[in-house]
Amino acid sequence: MARVRFPGQKDGTSKVKRIILGSVGVVSLIFVIIMLVVFVPKQKAKVLDTKDRIACPGFRDKSDCTSHGCEYANVKSGPSCYMKKNSFGYKVEDIIKQADGMVATLSSLSKTTPYGPSIPLVTFEVTYLTEEILRIKLYDAKNKRYEVPVQDTFPLLQEKKKVDVKKMAYNISVSEKSDVFSFQVRRTEDNTAIWDSRIGGLVLSDKFLQISSYLPSKNVYGLGEHVHPSIRHDLEYKTWPMFARDRTPEAGFINLYGVHPFYTCLENSSKSHGVLLLNSNAMDVALLPAPAITFRSIGGIIDIFFFVGRDPEHTVKLYTSLVGKPVLPPFWALGFQLSRYGYNSLDNVKAVVERTRKAEIPQSVQFLDIDHMENNRDFTYDKEKFANLKNYMTKTQKEYGLKWIIILDPAIEAVKGYEAFESGMKQNVFIKRSPIWNDEMFPPQLVNYNITFGRVWPSSEVAFPNFFDQNARKWWNDSIVNHHQEVPFDGLWIDMNEPANFATNEDRPFNCPEDEYCWTLKCPTSPYEDPPYNPLKDSGSDRISHMTLCMESLHQHGDHYYRHYDVHSLYGWSQTQITLQAAEKAIGYRSLVISRSTYPSSGRYAGHWLGDNKSTWDDLRYSVIGMLEFNIFGIPYIGADVCGFAKATTPELCKRWMQLGAFYPFFRNHNVLDQKDQDPVALGADVVAASKRAVERRYALNPYLYTLFYRSHLEGSTVVRPLFHEFPSDENTWNIGDQFMWGKCLLISPVLTPGANSLKIYLPDAEWWHFKGTESHREEVKGNYFDENDIHEEIPLHVKSGCIIPTEYYQLNKSNVEMPKNLTLYVFPINDESSGELYVDSLNSTGAIENNIFENYHFSYKNCSLSVKKTGGESRSFDWFVHQVHVFKVKAAKAVKIGSQSISNFSVNTTSNVLTVTVKQKLANIGQITWEDENKKCQMLP
Ligand SMILES: *[C@@H]1O[C@H](CO)[C@@H](O)[C@H](O)[C@H]1NC(C)=O
Ligand SMILES: *[C@@H]1O[C@H](CO)[C@@H](O)[C@H](O)[C@H]1NC(C)=O
Ligand SMILES: *[C@@H]1O[C@H](CO)[C@@H](O)[C@H](O)[C@H]1NC(C)=O
Ligand SMILES: *[C@@H]1O[C@H](CO)[C@@H](O)[C@H](O)[C@H]1NC(C)=O
Ligand SMILES: *[C@@H]1O[C@H](CO)[C@@H](O)[C@H](O)[C@H]1NC(C)=O
Repeated sequence: MARVRFPGQKDGTSKVKRIILGSVGVVSLIFVIIMLVVFVPKQKAKVLDTKDRIACPGFRDKSDCTSHGCEYANVKSGPSCYMKKNSFGYKVEDIIKQADGMVATLSSLSKTTPYGPSIPLVTFEVTYLTEEILRIKLYDAKNKRYEVPVQDTFPLLQEKKKVDVKKMAYNISVSEKSDVFSFQVRRTEDNTAIWDSRIGGLVLSDKFLQISSYLPSKNVYGLGEHVHPSIRHDLEYKTWPMFARDRTPEAGFINLYGVHPFYTCLENSSKSHGVLLLNSNAMDVALLPAPAITFRSIGGIIDIFFFVGRDPEHTVKLYTSLVGKPVLPPFWALGFQLSRYGYNSLDNVKAVVERTRKAEIPQSVQFLDIDHMENNRDFTYDKEKFANLKNYMTKTQKEYGLKWIIILDPAIEAVKGYEAFESGMKQNVFIKRSPIWNDEMFPPQLVNYNITFGRVWPSSEVAFPNFFDQNARKWWNDSIVNHHQEVPFDGLWIDMNEPANFATNEDRPFNCPEDEYCWTLKCPTSPYEDPPYNPLKDSGSDRISHMTLCMESLHQHGDHYYRHYDVHSLYGWSQTQITLQAAEKAIGYRSLVISRSTYPSSGRYAGHWLGDNKSTWDDLRYSVIGMLEFNIFGIPYIGADVCGFAKATTPELCKRWMQLGAFYPFFRNHNVLDQKDQDPVALGADVVAASKRAVERRYALNPYLYTLFYRSHLEGSTVVRPLFHEFPSDENTWNIGDQFMWGKCLLISPVLTPGANSLKIYLPDAEWWHFKGTESHREEVKGNYFDENDIHEEIPLHVKSGCIIPTEYYQLNKSNVEMPKNLTLYVFPINDESSGELYVDSLNSTGAIENNIFENYHFSYKNCSLSVKKTGGESRSFDWFVHQVHVFKVKAAKAVKIGSQSISNFSVNTTSNVLTVTVKQKLANIGQITWEDENKKCQMLP
């Protein structure tokens, strides 16, 4: 196909001109319609390759399909009802190039779409954001439509960078005026088409927007939140719905708590790019075998960001440079955490904390779920069953270094005399009802409130704060700060913020007492409640409002209102930043928030857990993929409920889960109401022994993990990552979702099946050590699979040669909170070189990195010399010290020096070739550790 080229060289026009065509548009539209009549028969003659078919989804049968202007053919795989090639779509009317992009006006080829009238005139706007990030928008040229407000907080969009067009990693071409509109985004370096919309299927109507593209490879990752059975997507016509929903995570095409319309694609050259559709309406994403992808949304605009990376990590860094880089959690958040729904009394909480300590299993955090509240109301606690809560919290904070995280649900019970409701009403903080609703929708006593009610955990109706509103944010902040006086938490857990509502459009909430009447929210009929296309239908939401508020609910924002229809999936996001701010204000130190519902950029403020999973081996397996995906989404503080939330766990499952969980960044054992206790001690000696080992191993590695979070906060990299992020050119890694890496150095291979006596492990092409402290042994395998039998006491952990790993000596009461840290360094050279780094701060001051209140140490080894260099941070020292250093592959050492000082406290194990030097010095004072053999030579194994 002939194409107009827009190499993007500078031209005179500097300002974006929006072309409104007015009557010219109408004329051209008529022209287009005439053209369509002429061209359609010709198009029809073509047989569309089935793999290139773009579905017309949502129609019942052939006549329903064809009466909506779609084509029908019964096929074995792929859509039976599909769009005739180019029967919808657009055509370029006018195009203007600019220094930083281009703007075109497009006119619709057809008046209607299967889901309502076409938007007749569309602006196609291309902006070169950076040399590697491109933005493309398609929106109604005449009428302003909803756009995702989250972008107002995107760092990259605040600063307009100058883009050197000659250095751009991408170029873009647009179809000629005589063709059906399409565009391509290509990687300049090798001309790979990252995006190629010639597949067709571009539709823009009021409540149905669709765009499709061929993909350059079948290696697609990300898109969430779902349970994906494989890390690499299956492209055999799989459609994933997205809309925040409170739903048990299960494999299947089921929309869950968060929305992440972001994927990465590993090209066949092993270069990587990412694509974000910035849209927050209910949507779905279809993956097609062509390979191709279709995004469909029922509102907003088409707003796509392309991240043209070099490799997968670079792509994630580009993505987080747009949406914002992950928050640095406090050090204690890297420890082991215990939780359950249904402790039901402080005595039961105490029993768990005390028995865990007695078993000498390190514990950093104790959680309290809603059962610690009075009638499940936020900002209260049960003064009988949890009498003296504050005393116990304060005592354990002081004596054990224990931290406390409490739950907060957004919903506020609507009863007189409840302070949170009354102050909220006074300050006008709740989501409003729509003027179109009639009073019969509401319980009589609440009719006059003019707000949207729902029903969740409290025993009567609830109202939902509108976090888009300044008043509401202030009210939420003040409520949290005040509550801290009574319940001195260290972190907050925000749950139910999809927002969840029980029994919307149904007759009874599941938690309504049998002999009682319980009011439920029933949504009216309106095009927003029941739009022409419902992407969630196959996922169990006959109405979009299933399990949540009515779509017509209104969120005040300054002087206008957002419809819940548009901002529903942003609810959790809107609550997150203010919750972190409030917690830090209350505590005075760095805090931690974990949120159930997330959206792109939530990782700047919070972590996430994978929701209400079950105690099954499948859930154990899927958690690895979920954890890896959230790292790709820029939310690296992630984990699943260890041992499983719903259903009964077993000692074997729980043991394996504790072993894997020790490698989740967020490591929490959590359990549902009415199940038997599943804290390690409750499950018997075997689980205790395995847990103690796993948890101690975790604490030893926390300095390395904390350093990964520092890097992530600084550069936007992942913390936990798939193997293909480190070995992108190794095809064997492209679909490995049952092993993973911590940074560049550690490779974790969890046991995910019952009764396992051995484990098949893949080791990419590098030199690996099975990491067991000074007992580590070198593996012979590289770039291959092998069966590991040593999997009973702990799961295999491998370290890559070339790495220096800082570890901490764990101490029960001190590791969680105390400085300075007592470190041991493990040095694994390759080709006589090795390096590593360490991030050091006070463990919980806010803004440590921004305010330069940290230290960064770089370790490097070469030629029998290990140097410890401070490379960043402030001049003051935090006094962390190194107890010992273990260097592998040392053949001989007769003399060892630290700086110019000869020391005698060292030894070489000639069987394992490990040199152990007892250092006992502050990091800042070490400088250089050197050694030589009796001939003053350096003797190392290769
Ligand atoms: C994009 O870059 C490639 C490689 O430099 C080149 O072959 C291609 O013609 C360019 N396309 C356009 C539209 O500039
Ligand atoms: C109720 O709220 C709506 C906004 O949802 C507003 O337009 C209306 O004036 C309010 N009505 C009353 C009686 O306050
Ligand atoms: C030397 O290393 C071997 C292999 O790891 C180990 O079995 C042995 O106990 C070590 N010897 C000493 C003295 O530590
Ligand atoms: C530091 O850790 C080592 C174990 O690695 C321990 O033997 C030593 O006593 C610790 N030193 C201090 C000062 O805590
Ligand atoms: C955090 O700050 C508080 C207040 O100074 C302190 O008591 C605590 O030990 C610090 N460290 C951690 C890890 O919480």
